[in-house]
Amino acid sequence: MADLDGVKEVKNFYTDIPQKTEGFFLKGSNSLDWGMKNRLARIFNPQSGRTVMLAVDHGYFQGPTTGLERIDLNILPLVQYSDTLMLTRGILRSIVPPSVTKSIVIRASGGSSILKELSNEEIAVNIEDSIRMNVCAMAVQVFIGGEFEKQSIINMTKLIDMGTRYGIPTLAVTAVGKNMARDALYFRLATRICAELGAHYIKTYYIEKDFETVTSCCPVPIVIAGGKKIPEFDALKMAYNAIQQGASGVDMGRNIFQSESPSAMIQAVRAVVHNNEKPEKAFELYNFLKRS
Ligand code: R5P
Repeated sequence: MADLDGVKEVKNFYTDIPQKTEGFFLKGSNSLDWGMKNRLARIFNPQSGRTVMLAVDHGYFQGPTTGLERIDLNILPLVQYSDTLMLTRGILRSIVPPSVTKSIVIRASGGSSILKELSNEEIAVNIEDSIRMNVCAMAVQVFIGGEFEKQSIINMTKLIDMGTRYGIPTLAVTAVGKNMARDALYFRLATRICAELGAHYIKTYYIEKDFETVTSCCPVPIVIAGGKKIPEFDALKMAYNAIQQGASGVDMGRNIFQSESPSAMIQAVRAVVHNNEKPEKAFELYNFLKRS
């Protein structure tokens, strides 16, 4: 029964304090709906505005990649140091315990293997399944200049349309064909096309020359892929330079899970991304954690 007697009548309406209207911290994302923003805020740390995504989706086109043979043994212990886990639904359901509360970015395109033309992909996860898995974003490969360029762009726009219906952001992953120039001109083109067509954030590669022009003319956040394994110090320097030149984080795989000490490496990467740690200091941290 409702409590009608003795109801406390002293109320404070704080009429002298206007309600705050906050902007959203993430580049180009202020006009999105609440659900989209909330998911993005689970990928990007609202304090630093940045993210450390641990990418382990490589198996979707190249099978058991070095370092990912046993995701249960090699990757699960690293998840605690990431902001987001990027992976396939097969690995999510078969290996990742549902008690993991890190945000999930699901690999949502597929259909070709390293034995064939890689750009020949389609959407490989439907929106209902993404909702069922409670994902924070769907990732799709976009092959600008590739043989199946248009098909991959349409995969992206279809995912964006479906995701927008339910408040799920789309991450466009710019894939570069073997014979294409990896330069600022190309990455400005590729990232801008993805953003213009509605991608909520974009993964691309770091380049030494003019990377800041890529981030500055892309209206939504950019995260960098790590690429092939390079020495730990060089990978930390690459992450540092990318962040200082406008990247909003990393989506790093091989340079973490193929490191001599993946756990030390992901913690050093975190320091670079979230605390602006210089590469030299981050490398010291890596060596310290590796020894301990
Ligand atoms: C590759 O196609 C996947 O999308 C990876 O997630 C991406 O390349 C990042 O991994 P890595 O740092 O190993 O390049």
